[in-house]
Amino acid sequence: MAFGRGKVILLGEHGVVYGHPALAAGLGVGVHARAVASDVDVIEARPWGVFARVDDDDEPLAKGYAAILEGYPSTRPRLRVEVDVELPGGAGLGCSAALGVAVTGAIDEALGIERSATERGEYSLRWERVFHGNPSGVDNAMAAAGGIALFRKGHPLEPVRARRPLPLVIAHSGESSSTKEVVAMVARQHEKEPARVGEVFEGIASLVRNARLAVEAGDLAALGQLMDMNHALLSALMLSTEQLEALCRAAREAGALGAKLTGAGAGGCMIALAASRAQAEAIRARLATLSPLTLVAEAGGLDEDVMLADAEGRREEGKPE
Ligand code: MEV
Repeated sequence: MAFGRGKVILLGEHGVVYGHPALAAGLGVGVHARAVASDVDVIEARPWGVFARVDDDDEPLAKGYAAILEGYPSTRPRLRVEVDVELPGGAGLGCSAALGVAVTGAIDEALGIERSATERGEYSLRWERVFHGNPSGVDNAMAAAGGIALFRKGHPLEPVRARRPLPLVIAHSGESSSTKEVVAMVARQHEKEPARVGEVFEGIASLVRNARLAVEAGDLAALGQLMDMNHALLSALMLSTEQLEALCRAAREAGALGAKLTGAGAGGCMIALAASRAQAEAIRARLATLSPLTLVAEAGGLDEDVMLADAEGRREEGKPE
């Protein structure tokens, strides 16, 4: 069984598409996949009712599968890939990248191909390009590697050692968001106002660099402030929504050290940083009254992973489009 993790971007989304750094954490939930010999190449995703041949042009998952298979020798056996998806799509949690990494891993396992996590993350960008057009690669790198890390396009992932684990609350706005469309919307703003948008990205990059230091120093209060500032800069790019604002406000009122949208924005999820696991649970209880899906996660614990508790309804959301 192969696994691709979900992720949260702690700081730095969008700027990362333009070569700036982002700080991200892998999640303990994601996508599991396995591949078995078959007469034809088929992809099956039971929760979504998908059973599609690789040449099915109407099925996005089949297109992703075809893009991945292109890189393998044509003499290979035909494969049926079954995926089990634990993440909502269109939520900013990296569902699509986790699918790509899991499917690549499953094929590699079936064919006895060895690849490092870095290589798998890079290879599976083929899948991501089908869904997202211009991905920075952060989601794939995190889906394959996990932990907390600093990502910069074209550079090796830099693992970041957290002095203290980061108690996080994740809450879904209930609004689905298309990363492809949102990245294109930001690109239009960048084209129209390169100086203003460039300054926003510079500002975010400096927050990311400071956030890395705060994570390494275990200074959660500073990290929370940096997350708030990052959210304000993302809002200046029109990436927040009323529902995301309401969730961030409620989290701060419930004692969060900081809160921001995560991933592409314009819907999807927000994250809040708590001072302790117990406080994270209390914030989650408050947000659960406003959100259809809330999770508590701990990034950078002993195994440098994110462990999730009490994921509610995470299979109910749609698949990537
Ligand atoms: C999506 O998780 C993060 C974005 O920065 C897009 C990308 O990096 O490809 C919005």
